Amino acid sequence: MDGLDALRAKYIAGVAAASDEAALEDIRLQAVGKKGEIALKMRELGQMSPEERQAVGPVLNALKDEINSALAGKKAALSDAALNERLRTEWLDVTLPGRPRPNGTIHPISQVTEEVTAIFADMGFAVAEGPQIESDWHNFDALNIPGHHPARGEMDTFYMHRAEGDERPPHVLRTHTSPVQIRSMLKQGAPIRVICPGRVYRADYDQTHTPMFHQVEGLAIDTDISMANLKWVLEEFVRAYFEVDNVELRFRASHFPFTEPSAEVDIRCSWAGGQLKVGEGDDWLEILGSGMVHPKVLQAGGIDPNKYQGFAFGMGIDRIAMLKYGIPDLRAFFDSDLRWLRNYGFASLDQPNLHGGLSR
Ligand code: DAH
Repeated sequence: MDGLDALRAKYIAGVAAASDEAALEDIRLQAVGKKGEIALKMRELGQMSPEERQAVGPVLNALKDEINSALAGKKAALSDAALNERLRTEWLDVTLPGRPRPNGTIHPISQVTEEVTAIFADMGFAVAEGPQIESDWHNFDALNIPGHHPARGEMDTFYMHRAEGDERPPHVLRTHTSPVQIRSMLKQGAPIRVICPGRVYRADYDQTHTPMFHQVEGLAIDTDISMANLKWVLEEFVRAYFEVDNVELRFRASHFPFTEPSAEVDIRCSWAGGQLKVGEGDDWLEILGSGMVHPKVLQAGGIDPNKYQGFAFGMGIDRIAMLKYGIPDLRAFFDSDLRWLRNYGFASLDQPNLHGGLSR
């Protein structure tokens, strides 16, 4: 059949010259597509004599195969070339120096919470949590603060809204972390050793008060717990937290509805030159309230006061953060001022622990 050599030459050259996959596809359609030149030639076989057909048919088929395999080869070559081009342009210089890390810092409240947790964890205390929107019963009654008690007024409580006609006492934004004592007792029973750090709320605002602040509660209950255990635990804590060996604590008789007896704890300090030094000097600094858990509180927590006793304490996290890190105004803790955060914040990879040093 005439022209097959020309056809071969034309398409083999065309395939070789195709510069991308689109051009190659054009050639494929022209040559071996359904309406391509080879297909037309195939159709012509119908008008041939059987002898001619026997001669030309295999030649045509062979040509079709040849063009198809040229197309396939070229296609692979083009996609290799495309990959090579990508590899050439999309590269990364792994020898470049690293970019500086984002310079966010750990907030002093988070830092101090971690420090406190590390110290008490070392003494066998677990961490317990409770809700910030708390029932009136957990926040007050169960802690031996009945409805008429003046402590309710003193705490400047935020009350949640109740629907018109709903006579139940409203929930409150918890005014202290002490309700977590009750929740821990009800949940796990005795013995207990927990600390409960978290947010608390009171309607108050000045240099040392903000409507939201942080406390940590401590609770230890067992069959032979005394004030002496409380004193030792608190001394250990203060020594570790302020990172000084000689600390002196003073237990001052006090009153809390949920403890009997109750004591406020002061630490010896000096304010010479306006700077706080713990463990020396003639001043005393109040840092927490504590005492032996009141039998009624144990009872409310479902624990038999004839079998178990315990101590409890409550401390302001913000306050001890201000003292340790010389931060003068509590309100700045919550202003989100980047300059303040950079100045008082902590490096994000320095996790406080007792062995590496709490505050490095
Ligand atoms: N809940 C008290 C407050 O917010 C602090 C406190 C005092 C907690 C004595 C205690 C405690 O567990 O024993 O002022």
